[in-house]
Amino acid sequence: MATLPPTRPAPEVVVRINRIWHDVEAEHYDRVHHEIITDEAEHWRKLAAKAAVCLPQGPATVVDIGTGTGFAMASFWPYLRPGDTAVCLDISVPMLGKAAARLESLGGPIPPICAACDASGIPLPSGRAHVVLMNSVLHHMPEPEKVLAEVCRLLAPGGMFVLAHEPNARARTSPHAVALYLAYRAWRKLRRLAKSLYGHKGQAAEVPKDLYEEVIRRLREQKVITKDQQVDWRWISQAVDFHSPTAGGAFLRQGGFDPSALIEQQSDAYEASSIETYAHLGKIRPSGWLLGLLDRLLGRLFPRSGASFSLVARKAEAIAGTKEDAPA
Ligand SMILES: C[S@@+](CC[C@H](N)C(=O)[O-])C[C@H]1O[C@@H](n2cnc3c(N)ncnc32)[C@H](O)[C@@H]1O
Repeated sequence: MATLPPTRPAPEVVVRINRIWHDVEAEHYDRVHHEIITDEAEHWRKLAAKAAVCLPQGPATVVDIGTGTGFAMASFWPYLRPGDTAVCLDISVPMLGKAAARLESLGGPIPPICAACDASGIPLPSGRAHVVLMNSVLHHMPEPEKVLAEVCRLLAPGGMFVLAHEPNARARTSPHAVALYLAYRAWRKLRRLAKSLYGHKGQAAEVPKDLYEEVIRRLREQKVITKDQQVDWRWISQAVDFHSPTAGGAFLRQGGFDPSALIEQQSDAYEASSIETYAHLGKIRPSGWLLGLLDRLLGRLFPRSGASFSLVARKAEAIAGTKEDAPA
């Protein structure tokens, strides 16, 4: 009888599944992910402007981790000058190909440097980066703490870390947010049922079915799963979006990140940070003025409970002393 692989794959397996998934998805990414490419564009223009204030007079280095097709680096592109270095890192080579094409099509003073690597071990010297960008990447990481330690190591003192489009753990622990989110999902399901009446305005295009088939074929070919093991789209989705509470169509209480805790875990490395939560109804840009209004109202009432969050944090100029070297 066919066996199922373990429900939570080991970290190195999660990285391999992510690479296979994104290799296959690269061709479709911009068309499928409207919730990033279109809906996050304005937000990222603001995040880029906030981060750009730390750029030095001399040449700057900007690193985009999990570049994908280049969305975050493209948002930062207007701030780059001749002599600067733009480094795009991703585990997927086809994604990097798309990013290089996008950034080259924007023109500008410098060509991007694209390199394939796992974000938990970045081949760049410590203190090299003035800005590190990450959009919709951390929840794919089996060991996010390793990636955050890498970010901290890479950043020069005073450098900026921008992290966005990540699931907010708090959105699933506050009762009002859970109730509203479930009500909204129920309403969306009803709306889908009635779509023949007034048309479906889904946020993202459907993931092509044959994409899953191709991913399963590669998982077998690359021996991530055996020929006998059966996996479905849910298993793949939960492995790819490892820390997402809604991966595989689930609604899990665990999953997501507490943005304040992410910064605090880096023991005094950051001296200032601004955190924003958004998508209080689960969508970045709810359709229709009424839902837009409700989303803004909820944002005012419950500023920490949006389904997604972004943060901009500045690395401290000097790391505070440890207990051992503090004066007696
Ligand atoms: C959802 S996409 C986000 C892409 C892009 N930042 C954007 O905003 O559109 C996640 C990206 O992270 C990359 N990725 C996943 N796991 C990775 C890892 N362990 N190391 C480096 N990149 C990884 C994927 O290949 C993919 O391009």
